[in-house]
Amino acid sequence: MTILDGNALSSKIKEELKGRVEKLVTEGNKAPHLAAILVGDNPASQSYVTNKIKFCEAVGFTSTLVRKPANISEEELIDVIQMLNDDDDIDGYIVQLPLPGHINDEKITLAIDYRKDVDGFHPMNFGRMAEGMTTFLPATPYGILEMMSRYGIDTDGKHCVVVGRSNIVGTPMSILLSRKGNPGNCTVTLTHSRTRDIKEELLRADIIIAAIGIPNFIKGDMVKEGAVVIDVGINRVTDDNKKSGYRLVGDVDFDDVKDKVSAITPVPGGVGPMTVTALMLNTFKAATKEIYR
Ligand code: GUN
Repeated sequence: MTILDGNALSSKIKEELKGRVEKLVTEGNKAPHLAAILVGDNPASQSYVTNKIKFCEAVGFTSTLVRKPANISEEELIDVIQMLNDDDDIDGYIVQLPLPGHINDEKITLAIDYRKDVDGFHPMNFGRMAEGMTTFLPATPYGILEMMSRYGIDTDGKHCVVVGRSNIVGTPMSILLSRKGNPGNCTVTLTHSRTRDIKEELLRADIIIAAIGIPNFIKGDMVKEGAVVIDVGINRVTDDNKKSGYRLVGDVDFDDVKDKVSAITPVPGGVGPMTVTALMLNTFKAATKEIYR
């Protein structure tokens, strides 16, 4: 059984990226610049954004964090977005999700200049992805593809079951793995809360992508012998033995499935670091105008 080590792979790509940034700057270009908008004080979001900023520092990117209170109005937030759209020094930026309930996510996504949308959430980038064109791929699916590719996971002709149909993970993942290419060429089943028998679907899977946000949802008796399991879940569960009062668990019950699978991502240290890495790869592409002039 192989543990798909997102931390180790992320460190390797970080070194590669650092070298590419050094070369870019030596050639007289400015360093890539990523900005992040963080609204409110959701602890998980704060931790994700901190990781993104740290990664920027490690590879030599410039970073800007824009913090706004949870009671910011939609109009005010769109003004901030407009400012980042107009700032020529900023190559790409993200609006950390989730946003407070009074803000319409869709309006925010549409306000982002798609040429700076390094999250790949804008319909322009999502549409390009669906058409198989070069684009900013959404960070988590991109990170997973990079992990599969670098670990040499064979996807060709495999049956992949995706659990969860979110716009940022499940749906794009199902499109990307069914596309012609490598990784790709899978037969994909996209399951969700209205799927009649998820266990029955999962037992047919050569590859499972779990992205539902329910702690330890997938158990050993739901997984086929030899399957590859990618666990996207990052769930905080109460743990009085921890100083923080919580620990992180995935959507997959790791201990229950580990003896059946051929490869699995741990939580933490699996998909999480790869998501941040993919965001940085997109930011580099934005800075070097690899997708849009
Ligand atoms: N919240 C959870 N995942 C993501 C992500 O990939 N991007 C942003 N902006 N927010 C998130």
